[in-house]
Amino acid sequence: MSTAAQISSDIKSVELADLGKKRIEWANQSMKVLQIIRKEFIKNQPLKGIRPVYAIKGEDNDTYYNHILAAIDHKPHITMDDGADLVTLLHTKRTDGLESVIGGTEETTTGVIRLRAMAKEGVLKFPIVAVNDADTKHLFDNRYGTGQSTIDGIIRATNFLLAGSKFVVAGYGWCGRGLASRARGAGAEVIVTEVDPTKALEAVMDGFRVMSMSEAAKLGDVFCTVTGNKSVLTKDHFEHMKDGAIISNSGHFNVEIDIPALEKMSSSKRTTRNFVDEYSLRDGRKINLLGEGRLINLAAAEGHPASVMDMSFADQALSVEYMVKNYKTLEKTVYKVPDELDKRVAKLKLESMGIKIDRLSPEQEEYLAGWSEGT
Ligand SMILES: NC(=O)c1ccc[n+]([C@@H]2O[C@H](COP(=O)([O-])OP(=O)(O)OC[C@H]3O[C@@H](n4cnc5c(N)ncnc54)[C@H](O)[C@@H]3O)[C@@H](O)[C@H]2O)c1
Repeated sequence: MSTAAQISSDIKSVELADLGKKRIEWANQSMKVLQIIRKEFIKNQPLKGIRPVYAIKGEDNDTYYNHILAAIDHKPHITMDDGADLVTLLHTKRTDGLESVIGGTEETTTGVIRLRAMAKEGVLKFPIVAVNDADTKHLFDNRYGTGQSTIDGIIRATNFLLAGSKFVVAGYGWCGRGLASRARGAGAEVIVTEVDPTKALEAVMDGFRVMSMSEAAKLGDVFCTVTGNKSVLTKDHFEHMKDGAIISNSGHFNVEIDIPALEKMSSSKRTTRNFVDEYSLRDGRKINLLGEGRLINLAAAEGHPASVMDMSFADQALSVEYMVKNYKTLEKTVYKVPDELDKRVAKLKLESMGIKIDRLSPEQEEYLAGWSEGT
């Protein structure tokens, strides 16, 4: 483990460079929108002089935070966060880093919730664009990206046959919708749990069984939480689960499943496969926890497919460009991605897929904008 002071670069293994380069090349083939934006940025240089990224796969908590500290040591102009940990550190232990920051962007739902809370309390020290809230981000990345990659992570970790199984999805937000539809596509009987009545109703009308987690706990073969909340699966649920139940999380952090409670209820624990910890409960039942309760699509699979991240990263790139152009006039709060940027990303994606759509005629535009023409 390296400390912040030691880190000017952190390389897990130089031998991995060639493999890494090939992976980047592979992903790049599916990232047509970013290719267009890169060409534009090379020509126009909108981020000239703007500073930093630190991460390695499999970093422990200390290394993760040391990487964030190292990023702050660079005196960044723009923060590009995924969960708001960097911004939180800049507002607590490392306020010295605030001096150079002109603004930031945030990638995920949980981060945006945290930042909105900071803005509401009036403590946010620079403007942030909530990339997560762009239509071209959450409608695609959270739904189709998390949906597919979470199934991929669960299957890679367990080799479990989804067809004919009972698959419980906790949370029917963007991630939950994608996950439920992909699990159904693989032949599972999908059960949804929710706390929001409208989302629950939507899940019912989308054709899923909806019930409380207390009920679902007794039925499920596989469970996956995607709520962004804590303690969604608890002792009360573990007590009623079937022998051999598989539990996993693809929401944020490892707090959606109450792992300390599971530890307490267990007489022993062993790792049976990569990313599978088998907990033996005192009554003889076994519960399999995947990826230590961390995001299973990142732990056991490869995260989202590059083609969907193409749009999320395009939103990031254009939002950073927007921030550099506009930070002087923005307030210290959380902003939506401007509509024209969002629509531009969707348009470029369609173009890259060779798909043409219709355009409003001037007559239609007038009709939609007006009120004088009757029905
Ligand atoms: N795995 C990934 O790669 C990935 C990608 C994108 C987002 N995320 C994370 O996934 C989480 C969900 O994101 P989202 O965009 O779907 O958010 P969302 O706000 O659209 O949906 C979350 C849903 O969970 C429900 N919920 C909250 N508490 C619950 C509980 N106790 N039981 C059942 N349902 C509950 C909410 O009512 C809401 O409908 C966030 O933490 C987000 O950061 C993960």
